[in-house]
Amino acid sequence: MESAAPQRVVVVGSINVDEVLGVAELPAPGETVLGRERATGLGGKGANQAVAAAVAGTGAGAGSGVALFGAVGADARGAGALEELAKYGVDTARVATLDDVATGRALVILSEAGENEIIVVGGANQALDVGTLTRDVLRDAAAVALQGEVAPEVNRAALRLAAELGVRAVVNLAPVQDLGGDLAQADPLVVNEIEAGQLIGAELATVQDVTAAAPRLRALARSVLVTLGASGAVLITPEALDHVPAPRPDRVVDTTGAGDALVGVLAAALAQGFELRAAVQRAVRAASLSVTEVGAAASYEAFRGRLDEGAVTP
Ligand SMILES: Nc1ncnc2c1ncn2[C@@H]1O[C@H](COP(=O)(O)OP(=O)(O)O)[C@@H](O)[C@H]1O
Ligand SMILES: [Mg+2]
Repeated sequence: MESAAPQRVVVVGSINVDEVLGVAELPAPGETVLGRERATGLGGKGANQAVAAAVAGTGAGAGSGVALFGAVGADARGAGALEELAKYGVDTARVATLDDVATGRALVILSEAGENEIIVVGGANQALDVGTLTRDVLRDAAAVALQGEVAPEVNRAALRLAAELGVRAVVNLAPVQDLGGDLAQADPLVVNEIEAGQLIGAELATVQDVTAAAPRLRALARSVLVTLGASGAVLITPEALDHVPAPRPDRVVDTTGAGDALVGVLAAALAQGFELRAAVQRAVRAASLSVTEVGAAASYEAFRGRLDEGAVTP
């Protein structure tokens, strides 16, 4: 691509170390089951999305690349996470290492059927200092990706900066948090069917449910993308409503981090100049490839170099 426009993606968000334990079936309350260690590695929605954007590639040229704004604790997990991010080529210059607080952690219990249960301990992610989110963090960014694992004040500050600088905001409201009037500029707001339902006070499970709720969802942001697992995603813009089906993967091993793959690749594609609908198709494809491998960030190798197969370029 020859354009001199910035293609850089900045992700503002959480960084965790995930420990994945495998079990035959998810334990019931009070039940003890034997498991095995499946993987320990980088996780957290911010880190995952940054890696996904980096693996998808943001193209050559001025200002390309992916940077992460976040925080880890001054501990071995934090050092390991930073090392891992650097390996993927994510710029971590704006990741703070905070004293007296632990690096975020997630315990993922994964069944043989690919279902999971996840416990997240926020740690340093919750201690992120909004005062350090200055203009220079978003300067040169074409797109910024946000999620609900850091304090809402951090996301609101990022949204205001993005508006001021004309940076496109991809807002993954997972988990749902209150961003007040700042949410309106999300383009798109990305939520799964459960989060979408929480936002409008309805129960949404199918493409039909989301389609029926489109008028209410449309009012939330400039555009809205509702993801529906194996059913793909529904894109709602002021002009249109499109169901983007997910390709059927060869196998479903672990869906952890699939939503993050989608958001990171979406931000990268928008930064590269893809139209929203084409960017969503690319992102859905990447997410559906990521479920064929174990782990969150680790599973994104499944789509490295495979997103341009049979696709149109921007
Ligand atoms: N079982 C699956 N088969 C194919 N694609 C999947 C599957 N699960 C997830 N995906 C892909 O990952 C995307 C996000 O998954 P989803 O479950 O909606 O997000 P979340 O993990 O946030 O609930 C989907 O839009 C789809 O592209
Ligand atoms: Mg889901």
